[in-house]
Amino acid sequence: MGLLDPAEWKAKWIAGNYVPKKDRYPSDYFRKTFTLNEQVKKARLYITACGLYEASINGHRVGTQCFTPGSTEYNKRLQYQTYDVAELLRDGMNAMAVVLGDGWFRGQVGPFGSRRVFGAETKLLAQLEITTLSGEQITVVTDDSFMWSNVGAIRENDLQVGEVYDAAMALTGYDTPEFEDCSKFGPVKLTEYHTRLVCSNNVPVMEREHFKPKLIKTPSGETVLDFGQNMAGYPAFSVSGPKGHAIILQMAEVLDEDGNFTVRNLVGNKLDFQRIRYICSGNGKEYYKPKFAIQGFRYVLVKNWPGELNPDDFEAIAVYSAMEKTGDFTCSHPLVNRLVENARWSMKSNFLEVPTDCPTRERAGWTGDAQLFFETGSYFMDVAPLYRKYLMDIADCQGKDGKVPCIVPDVGSKVVSMLDGAVGWADAIILIPYRYWKIYGDKDIIKVNYPAMKKYAGFIIDRATKNRLFSRFKKNPYRQYTYEVGFHWGEWLEPMENLSLKLLMKPKREEATAYFSYTMSCLAEIADEIGETADAKQYRTCAEGAKKAYNYLYVKDNDIVADRPAKYVRPLAFGLLPEEARKNVAASLLADTKARNYTIGTGFLSTPFILPVLTEFGYIDDAYQMLEQEEIPGWLYQVKTGATTIWEKWDAIDKNGKVKFASHNHYSYGAVCNWLFRDVCGIRLSDGDEYNYVIVPHPGGDLTYANASFRSIWGEVRSNWEIREDKVHYTIQIPANTTAKLVLPVSADKGFQIIQGKDGFDDGQWTLGSGTYEFVTEK
Ligand code: BGC
Repeated sequence: MGLLDPAEWKAKWIAGNYVPKKDRYPSDYFRKTFTLNEQVKKARLYITACGLYEASINGHRVGTQCFTPGSTEYNKRLQYQTYDVAELLRDGMNAMAVVLGDGWFRGQVGPFGSRRVFGAETKLLAQLEITTLSGEQITVVTDDSFMWSNVGAIRENDLQVGEVYDAAMALTGYDTPEFEDCSKFGPVKLTEYHTRLVCSNNVPVMEREHFKPKLIKTPSGETVLDFGQNMAGYPAFSVSGPKGHAIILQMAEVLDEDGNFTVRNLVGNKLDFQRIRYICSGNGKEYYKPKFAIQGFRYVLVKNWPGELNPDDFEAIAVYSAMEKTGDFTCSHPLVNRLVENARWSMKSNFLEVPTDCPTRERAGWTGDAQLFFETGSYFMDVAPLYRKYLMDIADCQGKDGKVPCIVPDVGSKVVSMLDGAVGWADAIILIPYRYWKIYGDKDIIKVNYPAMKKYAGFIIDRATKNRLFSRFKKNPYRQYTYEVGFHWGEWLEPMENLSLKLLMKPKREEATAYFSYTMSCLAEIADEIGETADAKQYRTCAEGAKKAYNYLYVKDNDIVADRPAKYVRPLAFGLLPEEARKNVAASLLADTKARNYTIGTGFLSTPFILPVLTEFGYIDDAYQMLEQEEIPGWLYQVKTGATTIWEKWDAIDKNGKVKFASHNHYSYGAVCNWLFRDVCGIRLSDGDEYNYVIVPHPGGDLTYANASFRSIWGEVRSNWEIREDKVHYTIQIPANTTAKLVLPVSADKGFQIIQGKDGFDDGQWTLGSGTYEFVTEK
């Protein structure tokens, strides 16, 4: 628990005794000793930093969390952690020590590598509250009794850039009471920081999987370690080298077309990126891993290793928010299984305190990516705490006018902020709580976030109704519902579109008006649910109005004529079309899909919806074909090419093996896995109500079996099917105290037959209570 009243904070902010300007600085090391005359019954350490901290008491690290205090919009809200440290304290002299890193506070962040976004001075605030066995209360707080040094081993540190570590400078034992030579320590500076302190309530960021490497010699003679899995984390190693001997490690996601090391796909030829410079102490074998740097990598280039390199001296450690695994999907198609694991790995690589786009070039909390992946992410792992916190971050970053930034927490980029409020990105403020409520049955989330959602609704209503100056459609009778202003990313990274300034500046009326309608309809449902009926009415009017505007502008003769599939997918997925138009537009989508030979033609916004939409209109075989085709652009091309995470662009490695400028670890296109759970095995999270599932499996494609399980908050639900000798065998498991509506693709009039199963069959639908059921149908 945190401190119940902010007034309970007695600690003072302390900083290193120097005036930081623009350079990079060594880590600050703080230390204090104090005496206890009795054994400890209970002790809590409340601690935070502007920057990152790692604390230790009497030579033992406090806790196992990484990158604390975590990432928030610091000037609005700063998290602290509470640790039970009773075990670490002793009767007698004690020492408490803390080392600080730059982190998100003053380190390099975001797409343009902004620095010092929240300040230039890293600082520490800590309060240790001790109750001794006899009940005496002792409080040790950060103040001018602490000592400070910046001549320790961490000479430079940055989350993106990496670390410079001089082992010979290590202040060995400075966190123990026995440490005597304090000549490198001096007084601290008392300082201030004004923000809201909150106890963190997110899943902790932890070290998770460990990987051992294979040693490779590249064609150009470099020594490279291959850890077999792209991830976010850091390498760790043991080494013994002569004093002053400098080793350089650099981390990369991919080898280039010739098999040589490269970070060109991420930062061009910039050297100062994802690097570790380790200087040996000459004191025998030493172990090192970074404290304040995290990289996206599978490969590590090792330069200047002293003596022969033994790969056993290395490991790579994946680090991410330790969410519990909730769902699994496996099927008979090995490439699809690998795709699922790749998506899960991209999720692991990017869910660190907030969901980010990629763990390398930007590591930024792009709101669009976060909302598009929400449902897929929640099948894979329990994302509830992380998104609940992220929603607070979004609300913290929201403008007074209700505008929502593209990146949360802010990364201080003026270029990006020109697109703040972009549809599909800013809508995260409504779409995330909406899906969260549906999947976790959590009404609180929509209540708590309602004021922020309402503010955003005001912002988009304002945008749609005002600023008619640039309207191209003067005669449009639904002008006040047509969203025509602001800069938007649009569909983003459609394969046929080259990214350009012109494209960014282009009005995105179609995308914006569609999102206006869709987001407003979700908000109307939310408002109704929590009893805000007057608001609900207004939002529904906007949703309907925007729908009419959309039809007026884009639908002719009950059809849409377009040159790209997103223009069909969006209105179908968002329910924007009248019944007469829906079938025609779906048929146009099908024709387009076939004409593209089942390659993907949608961008970030519509790719998650294309297979569900094809399925909804009965084109299930076509949906499977699109999933299973192995050419560019397609999901399995990258798997076939050896990807272990999801690429940002379909041709991140092109047909000639050329490595293009693109991240290899963007979960966005991995949102297709939602379809595997919700349509292939048919576990539909968001369609049911509390204690009631909807299960609609769709066997098909080249798959001979598919198994999905999901540990929902009401229990574990399973849906498996297998084709054996022309029959489909379904096994459905419904947890205790819940029911499910099961819909199988069988119906008497279509000539399908249920061979064996439960009674109560009504044209392919059953209501099942808890238990495990088997059904067998003709294929
Ligand atoms: C990021 C994306 C993000 C996009 C905005 C990119 O640079 O990597 O994932 O959503 O910009 O369109």
